[in-house]
Amino acid sequence: MALNDKDFNFLEAVLVKNTEICKKCKNIVVGKGDINAKILFVGEAPGAKEDEQGFPFVGAAGKNLDKLLNNVGLSLKDVYIANILKCRPPENRNPLPDEIRAHTPWLVKQIKDMRPNVVCSLGNYATKFFLADGVVENMKKQVGITSVHGKVKNMEFHGVKIRLIPLFHPAAIIYNQKLKPLWEEDMEIVKKEIEKV
Ligand code: URA
Repeated sequence: MALNDKDFNFLEAVLVKNTEICKKCKNIVVGKGDINAKILFVGEAPGAKEDEQGFPFVGAAGKNLDKLLNNVGLSLKDVYIANILKCRPPENRNPLPDEIRAHTPWLVKQIKDMRPNVVCSLGNYATKFFLADGVVENMKKQVGITSVHGKVKNMEFHGVKIRLIPLFHPAAIIYNQKLKPLWEEDMEIVKKEIEKV
């Protein structure tokens, strides 16, 4: 489904549209799944395939995420999937602080509308964003995903009580096969946590 004018009716979208990466991307990638679900997955930023198709996690990393969902008995009907950045950074470079500042008010709005019980943060950027309570300046002070993956944290994020489950980024599993057993252990944790939803 392509975005239409009504999707750009709010301030958060204007902030995104003002960033350089947005001027260069093909699609603003908002999310996919059920916005009324109780489980949210948050990745980093769209890649080339996502930019092309307008949906998150449709490329190689998406295949790993699909496997995770399948293994824990979830489908797109049970979850919503979004990213820290709504547009693809050129050459898939890391998100810049100003981009995170401009793009995440939209994610925060999605979370406030959705009120998920469980948030799975995928990789360093998403995890640090939540651990820093959405304050971009504080992201650098947060511990990395290697130390916190699979450690469930009960927290309040912008007035929404969530159980944060930090997970390795599904793309990291492709590049570093040593992470696979840890990723599989973490899946068991996801399974246990979603039983409580
Ligand atoms: N990686 C991400 O973090 N998000 C996507 O949507 C695709 C790949």
